[in-house]
Amino acid sequence: MQRILIFDTTLRDGEQSPGASLTIKEKILIAEQLNKLGADIIEAGFPIASPGDFEAVRQIARQIEGPVICGLARAMDKDIDCCWEAVKYAKRPRIHTFIATSDIHRDEKLRKSKEEVIASAVRAVKRARSYCDDVEFSPEDAGRTSLEYMCDVVRAVIEAGATTINIPDTVGYTEPEEFGKRIHTLFEKVPEVRNVVVSVHCHNDLGNAVANSLAAVKAGATQIECCINGIGERAGNASLEEIVMNLKTRSDYFGVETGIITRELYKTSRLVSRLTGLEIARNKAIVGQNAFAHEAGIHQHGVLQSKATYEIMSAEDVGWSGDNIVIGKHSGKHAILALLEDEGYILNTRQSERVVEKVKALADKNKSVERDDVLAIAMDILGELPDKEQHIRLEGFAVTTGSGMTPTASVKLCINGQEKIGAGVGDGPIDALSKAVWSIIDPSVQLLEYNLKAITGGTDALADVSIKLKDAQGRIFSGRAVHEDVIRAGAMAIISGLNRVMNYSDIKK
Ligand code: KIV
Ligand code: ZN
Repeated sequence: MQRILIFDTTLRDGEQSPGASLTIKEKILIAEQLNKLGADIIEAGFPIASPGDFEAVRQIARQIEGPVICGLARAMDKDIDCCWEAVKYAKRPRIHTFIATSDIHRDEKLRKSKEEVIASAVRAVKRARSYCDDVEFSPEDAGRTSLEYMCDVVRAVIEAGATTINIPDTVGYTEPEEFGKRIHTLFEKVPEVRNVVVSVHCHNDLGNAVANSLAAVKAGATQIECCINGIGERAGNASLEEIVMNLKTRSDYFGVETGIITRELYKTSRLVSRLTGLEIARNKAIVGQNAFAHEAGIHQHGVLQSKATYEIMSAEDVGWSGDNIVIGKHSGKHAILALLEDEGYILNTRQSERVVEKVKALADKNKSVERDDVLAIAMDILGELPDKEQHIRLEGFAVTTGSGMTPTASVKLCINGQEKIGAGVGDGPIDALSKAVWSIIDPSVQLLEYNLKAITGGTDALADVSIKLKDAQGRIFSGRAVHEDVIRAGAMAIISGLNRVMNYSDIKK
């Protein structure tokens, strides 16, 4: 069977999802899991975009062995040079360069003629090939580019040395039949594409990303660019798990296969969701919580007689072990660790011990500990910064509130070894506490979002607080904390975010 290459761009296009920024450590964790999943190519980032992006690509290139490690570069000398500096450490590096080809992008954004765009594309590919044998080229907004011109560009960059041609539907504008025809025509009009890999990259603005990618496979494409959970710019990219399970479940129709180890899908999906903070809809195909749940009696009856009545693929095949794991007071360490492993949590021994300790401590307070409590605790422990990165520590706080009183708060912080005390009043206890913190920290950092979620149960539920901060340069940082005390959870989340802001300034120095 024809092998379809899976090019995962979760760490590049996926990370461009609003609010999904990842730390370098988090990107490495995801890259390790993508390797276990069997992704053929990992697009690790856009090295010129920021020092953090560069460093993430460099570290992934050094550490992840197996897949091709790819970096993105505009069709500009400085981008390509920078991209090579980051990917050159990989055993199998790739430079992916692109320039927009649609009239609207050429005229409005680039202000270049068709000939000038072809010249830039050819120059970029040649420069990339001077560093590396594996060079991918994308005519950005190909979905809205005239077919004839798109073919001219493709012909020229193959001649210049591109080894993969990627056709992106950048704004998710095309319809499946139309996109399939575009790929078909490309094979017809540019027979040279048979000597390179033809790839597609579809966005989901009209909800067609997966269907368009599959139509392209039918038309002869052999690489698909996609993201875990379908994350990405705006409405996202084609979802990797949906593409892979379509190709697998309907291999009778497509007649192709991928190298993806589908049992790793669920774990990978959970890991990406947890680290990006982008939640998965319960009814999301393949990895949503309801994907294998049968609610209606008639369905349950059918499934009990034979799973095939209502299930076209098995939950085990995507690595989903079901909702039936209950973590209770008497659960052993093994059950807790098995749950975490299933959910894609990668903890070292010390972190695992701490999760088990905290779960037991919570259970000892007579609280029924549920699956989501365990996950929240693990998440909290995984998000803890090492000692040297904790510039600010919460030493203590007091909050008073009540009917007819203005909520007030005082807070004691230790900032780089110096004790500071702040006070504030606010609309509620958490607002007062945040004002108290801001009375002593850098006012150019702003609190953008504050989200509070009760994990499970009643009034003794764990509080899970996630926040977003913006620094003076507009960079976004997140913070998170879990605690039984809702106000303490809020204070700890703010402080964890502030520490991330301070660490970033440290890296820059
Ligand atoms: O959507 C797009 O066009 C892209 C390119 C850089 C491939 O992400
Ligand atoms: Zn894209």
